[in-house]
Amino acid sequence: MTSTNTCSFCNYTPARTVNAGAHRVGISTDEVVEYYSKWSHDGKYEQDLCPEWYKGPSIAADVVAEYFRHNVSHVNILDVAAGTGLLGEQLQDRRFKHLDALEPAAGMLEQARKKNIYTNLYCEFLDGNRLPIDDDMYDCCVISGGMGEGHIPCDGLHELIRITEQGGLICIVMCEDYLYDVTEYRGRLEKLMQKLEDDGKWKKLSRDVVRQYCFNHNGVIFNFKIC
Ligand SMILES: C[S@@+](CC[C@H](N)C(=O)[O-])C[C@H]1O[C@@H](n2cnc3c(N)ncnc32)[C@H](O)[C@@H]1O
Repeated sequence: MTSTNTCSFCNYTPARTVNAGAHRVGISTDEVVEYYSKWSHDGKYEQDLCPEWYKGPSIAADVVAEYFRHNVSHVNILDVAAGTGLLGEQLQDRRFKHLDALEPAAGMLEQARKKNIYTNLYCEFLDGNRLPIDDDMYDCCVISGGMGEGHIPCDGLHELIRITEQGGLICIVMCEDYLYDVTEYRGRLEKLMQKLEDDGKWKKLSRDVVRQYCFNHNGVIFNFKIC
């Protein structure tokens, strides 16, 4: 990202417009991964979503570090929708050692792999389908920026719960607007979160809104403890 806030592709389109392209209304899952894989080339994604404009990874890492503050080195974490590994780097900076990544865009995952911070890397979608991961494998599943149009659907929550052990943390950091603007989530995502709590699957610990999470958009941070 340059100080003029322009895109790394063309030095003209605002980076926020490039970001919006990954979330355009009606984008399919295949188009999403193709878009991100292309964007990941030559570090372009990380230039555009630099810490000045995109705070998801640092916010998520702070939340996870606070939750596991007495036990950092033994915590098994799955970085869901890991992208190029920005969150993994932030977690490593906070002394977490056992990090895996799940990411469906091969180009993004390749960038993450090069950082040598993840043990297992899964090139998979989180959706309603069963992941190749055993029950209760993780102390923590964390999502930074993986929610959006054509991204992780509501049904993905069931798999997060299955693979996270009792007492573990699920942390979801996302753009607040998407709760209302994305058809998949509008009137559904928070309803499902509540139903899962009513069914005794997890307990909501917090729901916080943060300012200027990505460009000038607010973020929302959900934290759930697995029952
Ligand atoms: C804005 S990027 C966030 C990447 C990284 N977590 C970060 O904070 O930089 C969104 C990521 O979600 C991934 N994604 C989209 N749909 C997904 C799905 N169904 N399951 C898992 N990841 C998905 C995309 O491929 C992309 O890498």
